[in-house]
Amino acid sequence: MAISSYVWFDGKFVKFEDAKVSILTHSLQYGSGIFEGIRFYETYNGPAVFRLKEHTKRFFNSAKIYAMPIKITPKQFEGAILETVSKNGIKEGYIRPFGFYNSIGIGFNVRGLTTSVAIAAVPYKGLYGEHVKGLRCKVSSWQRINSAILPAEAKASGNYINSILASKDAQDSGYDETILLSNNGKTVAEGPGDNIFVVQDGVLITPPKSSDILLGITRDTIIRLAEDLKIPVQERDIRREELYTSDEAFFTGTAAEVEVIASIDSRILGDGSIGPITRLLKSKYSEVVHGRDKKHLSWLTVVR
Ligand SMILES: Cc1ncc(COP(=O)(O)O)c(C=O)c1O
Repeated sequence: MAISSYVWFDGKFVKFEDAKVSILTHSLQYGSGIFEGIRFYETYNGPAVFRLKEHTKRFFNSAKIYAMPIKITPKQFEGAILETVSKNGIKEGYIRPFGFYNSIGIGFNVRGLTTSVAIAAVPYKGLYGEHVKGLRCKVSSWQRINSAILPAEAKASGNYINSILASKDAQDSGYDETILLSNNGKTVAEGPGDNIFVVQDGVLITPPKSSDILLGITRDTIIRLAEDLKIPVQERDIRREELYTSDEAFFTGTAAEVEVIASIDSRILGDGSIGPITRLLKSKYSEVVHGRDKKHLSWLTVVR
């Protein structure tokens, strides 16, 4: 992956190769950082950041859940994101803000520790590349983290150890990606870095907020676009066996956008190609993020 030329680091731009931390940094050792994944797209008005306000809110909510002091305000954070994109001169890509305990030491106790915020922007083409036939997924034997153990609503670095375990397991077994069940072992939670939707008899269904999921901004976007398109939407528990009998399924996420799932545990969904509702939402999503849909221009913040 090509990398940022400049990283915004606690209020200053530093060259990527100079944006360094110690090997004993708390958040590197213990996964105590919080982060966001934000996309910006080329539009008629220049590069524009998609749903910046919502990503900013989630970043500060993640900090709040962990009682992590962040030295900048949400407004300064938004300004820093836009400046980082502009400074790097990239037209389309991915932004990675990272809030972390910068203190050096051995103990895990965070009392009295100081924090930093760093923001990088990189050119980016998407998470899964060109899977014309869709992803072949495996339901993981690892369950999604239970919110009574780690709050799923916070986008915290440590949560992703669970994602890494499940994803690697599926890939080692020859699948493209994994789907994690909730901690009850019966209902579906999400993908390792994406939310999941299924389609049954023309109804779009996604697990509810209570199912130990990250509240995806793309998930919200898709629900709202489906409503615009008069596609009925249900937020309800999905049993594992329903994954096999659904007509269509797809992942949503900032990185994944709308990614087709072709099969789950070797059961082919529909005829194994992209279904009509997935196709419609995928193309609507692409229109919206590229500023080609007038109704949702307010979701885009143009980089000056
Ligand atoms: C675990 C998890 N679920 C869902 C999502 C999708 O969230 P969003 O659409 O806000 O990118 C992500 C990606 O950030 C994720 O890491």
